[in-house]
Amino acid sequence: MKVLKSKKTLIDYVERQREMGKKIGFAPTMGALHQGHLSLYKAAKKENDEVISSIFVNPTQFNNPDDFQKYPKTLEKDLELLEKAGVDAVYVPNVEEMYPDGLNSKKYDFDGLENEMEGKYRPGHFDGVGTIVEELFRQVQPHNAYFGEKDYQQLAIIKKMVEKTKLPVKIHGVPTLREEDGLAM
Ligand code: PAF
Repeated sequence: MKVLKSKKTLIDYVERQREMGKKIGFAPTMGALHQGHLSLYKAAKKENDEVISSIFVNPTQFNNPDDFQKYPKTLEKDLELLEKAGVDAVYVPNVEEMYPDGLNSKKYDFDGLENEMEGKYRPGHFDGVGTIVEELFRQVQPHNAYFGEKDYQQLAIIKKMVEKTKLPVKIHGVPTLREEDGLAM
């Protein structure tokens, strides 16, 4: 598995895959991976020639800076899991590469989806999610992208962002995996 640590290495890699005519499936994450994430790769492997993931803890989607600081960072373990899951490449950029002009989110109009449910209590959260996912899509250029249905509102918002930006990527929702007692993983 290739570990791509800069935008340049990612873009060279993606260009090579595209030149070979490979179909790229992408599942972005913030790391701290578990079984739930692995189901995204399983779905991606079925429908693509090349599976890319990313690990980036996105500061602009956190409402509380403490939550951002405390977010678990388990890179070595994550890389092992990704390798075992048969992921071909993982993009692990740093903040400067994702936000060269400073930590600002784009302001989206998600047709009101952002004001419902979780959005009511987390102002700006979905702008942060939209900003990072749009930027990752522009860099990774996947044909297909996979997100858990567990974060149903996030999934709807990402579909809306893709509709509005007209990015050429198909969004797939992957069913929630649950513990024996029904708790979502
Ligand atoms: O669901 C997540 O882990 C994050 O919100 C995502 C989609 C990777 C964007 O940072």
